Amino acid sequence: MNAKRVLLLFGLAIMVSSVALAQDFKYIGAAKCKICHNKPTTGEQFNKWTAGPHAKAMESLKGAEKENQKCLKCHSTAASVDKSLVATITVEEGVSCESCHGPGSIYKSAGIMKNQKLALTKGMIMPTEMVCKKCHNEESPHYKGFNFAEYSKRIAHPDPSKK
Ligand code: HEC
Ligand code: HEC
Ligand code: HEC
Ligand code: HEC
Repeated sequence: MNAKRVLLLFGLAIMVSSVALAQDFKYIGAAKCKICHNKPTTGEQFNKWTAGPHAKAMESLKGAEKENQKCLKCHSTAASVDKSLVATITVEEGVSCESCHGPGSIYKSAGIMKNQKLALTKGMIMPTEMVCKKCHNEESPHYKGFNFAEYSKRIAHPDPSKK
């Protein structure tokens, strides 16, 4: 084999293994995040999410819509991801933490969570406008436009201890 081919194969092997790794990150659901993210002193993210629009996204779907993949793809985290990646998350919890922060099965451990750089390599996402626009776009039958700054304020759940 010439050097170019070896390099090509090596590159392919890396690509295949990183795809396999990415698939190990599974969706665990908001109840698991709640264990550590519901203290008022650090921003009670779980309560804020529960009170906001995303946790109620399944309530907007009526009857057969609750099983219609065309609606579920934006109204439910669990129903919008590959079935093999569903661990303990349920369809009913609507647009859950992990639609914005990435599948948490690995990064959820305290040792990893405390180190943002490490968490980002273990499936965590700090969402940008692009993440929101996967769902907030004209494909939505009730699209009302999307202003990132304004919409972010309405779902904000910052940690006050960090300021
Ligand atoms: C075992 C406890 C624990 C669990 C479970 C947990 N987290 Fe965390 N998380 C932490 C800690 C500790 C931090 C670091 C807080 C800090 O930097 O002050 C953190 C930080 C974060 C951050 C901010 C990262 C940063 O550096 O600003 C996000 C986002 C986050 N967690 C999301 C989640 C989500 C989503 C889940 C569920 C899938 C989850 N966490 C589950 C403990 C946990
Ligand atoms: C997985 C899809 C999805 C993602 C990603 C998503 N959203 Fe949403 N969002 C929805 C759905 C669905 C609703 C409507 C919930 C309902 O009322 O049924 C919604 C509603 C909202 C609302 C309330 C809008 C209204 O008309 O009252 C705000 C604000 C919002 N989202 C902000 C954001 C922001 C900011 C981001 C990114 C950080 C984001 N969303 C990411 C699906 C998503
Ligand atoms: C591309 C993503 C997407 C798809 C597909 C989608 N929705 Fe939504 N839906 C949203 C978002 C985002 C909102 C929040 C409205 C906004 O702020 O634009 C929403 C809001 C709603 C609302 C609340 C109406 C309102 O005025 O706030 C209902 C009801 C709804 N959707 C039903 C459905 C049904 C039924 C389907 C399937 C036929 C569907 N949606 C498909 C993203 C989507
Ligand atoms: C619709 C998208 C969306 C959902 C759903 C969502 N978040 Fe966030 N989250 C964000 C955005 C946007 C930020 C701010 C990111 C930044 O500062 O760069 C954030 C920030 C955070 C932070 C860091 C706060 C800080 O000030 O350091 C934590 C912790 C967190 N989220 C946890 C959660 C948990 C737990 C859930 C579910 C109970 C959740 N989030 C649901 C979009 C979301």
